[in-house]
Amino acid sequence: MRAGTQLIGRPTRGTTGTNRLRRVDRWIAQLPALRAAPGPLVVDLGFGANGVTTFELESRLHRAGAGADVLGLELDPERVATAQGQLERTRRGETVFSPAARVTFARGGFEVPAPRRPAVIRAFNVLRQYDEADVPAAWAQMAARLAPEGVLVEGTCDEIGRVASWIDVGADARPLRFTVSLRLHGLDRPSIVAERLPKALIHRNVPGERVHAWLSALDTEWERAAGHAVFGPVQRWLATVAALREAGWPIDGTRSRWRLGEVSVPWRAVAPA
Ligand SMILES: C[S@@+](CC[C@H](N)C(=O)[O-])C[C@H]1O[C@@H](n2cnc3c(N)ncnc32)[C@H](O)[C@@H]1O
Repeated sequence: MRAGTQLIGRPTRGTTGTNRLRRVDRWIAQLPALRAAPGPLVVDLGFGANGVTTFELESRLHRAGAGADVLGLELDPERVATAQGQLERTRRGETVFSPAARVTFARGGFEVPAPRRPAVIRAFNVLRQYDEADVPAAWAQMAARLAPEGVLVEGTCDEIGRVASWIDVGADARPLRFTVSLRLHGLDRPSIVAERLPKALIHRNVPGERVHAWLSALDTEWERAAGHAVFGPVQRWLATVAALREAGWPIDGTRSRWRLGEVSVPWRAVAPA
């Protein structure tokens, strides 16, 4: 990584895809940090080979009544040029996105060159290709740019967005929560998410680590709740979450979030030992 006036980060593969980030976008749309801020700015850091997930983020926030200016940042200049081309076509009404979409693109890395402090930075499938040891500095660099109540949402998902997990990090660079979000239809075991954990946790899914205990508990209760499957996978998931709460896991959030196949726990519940 390079510091100073240069872009901070290292080039990585640009894999992205339509609809891939719908789960985390839905979660971002209800964040108090976004809803409370007047004229909020949201940064999509490392948008990838093209700008589609940046446009989708803007449009989902708009539809959820949490409209924001969305700035897509990329280290790779060719990817920025591709996204700029998409933006020009969008302005001319030639794409599925609104010609009035509040989207801009620029080159940038973890130093987050933004015109004002973002309420939210989404960095998805970016740190995956870094080393675990790079994570604290990357979080600190991005968090330092946030608005005081702002949130960094750093995570990963599969190519089609059915399995996702993320960590939200406060402006003081401290991790707040760990969230798992799964498509419940056809779900075999919640621990499928083990393949898609944020970099800070993916090497920690071994016996003796808290995240391993958490994923094992999710699997155990999902299995025990199998009888609820006759009422559908959502009921089975609600029963799973209820049992985990009863077992003493510090589950965060509300039933309306759990119904979506999400579950969040405070960072301390999964923090590396
Ligand atoms: C796998 S793509 C992810 C694209 C999109 N966020 C998604 O989830 O579909 C990762 C992108 O992050 C970019 N990237 C890596 N490190 C970065 C950094 N420090 N700042 C900005 N972009 C970065 C890479 O150039 C790459 O295009």
